[in-house]
Amino acid sequence: MSIAVSTFGSGSGSRSRVIRVAGPAAARATSSRVDFARQVRPILEARCQPCHFAGGRMYEALPFDREETVHRLGARLFTRIKAEDEQRVIGELLSQGR
Ligand code: HEC
Repeated sequence: MSIAVSTFGSGSGSRSRVIRVAGPAAARATSSRVDFARQVRPILEARCQPCHFAGGRMYEALPFDREETVHRLGARLFTRIKAEDEQRVIGELLSQGR
């Protein structure tokens, strides 16, 4: 990952520091690893409120603020989430395991 990172930053003085700080973030940005809280939960929040979130009637059985629920439901989610890009992100989360 440090190869891609080394193209960042033009100042020579702060270079090594930039690399150290940017390293993990850049690795995350370029890897295909999907982050539940950042990439999947917002989709569910946008579409499945209020029922599957705190205070909703399905929160006890199927809380969508937990990654575990998404893994439990798997492809059954796609009966209600039809947008291709959203299915792709959720599919990637499922395929990467935990
Ligand atoms: C208006 C309230 C409401 C909203 C909004 C809602 N759900 Fe649900 N959901 C329910 C209820 C009630 C059940 C249990 C009874 C049933 O299956 O209809 C349920 C059950 C489910 C189930 C399990 C049953 C099955 O079909 O396998 C899944 C999966 C599910 N919901 C996904 C979603 C997803 C994904 C969204 C958002 C795109 C969503 N729901 C939005 C109320 C809601």
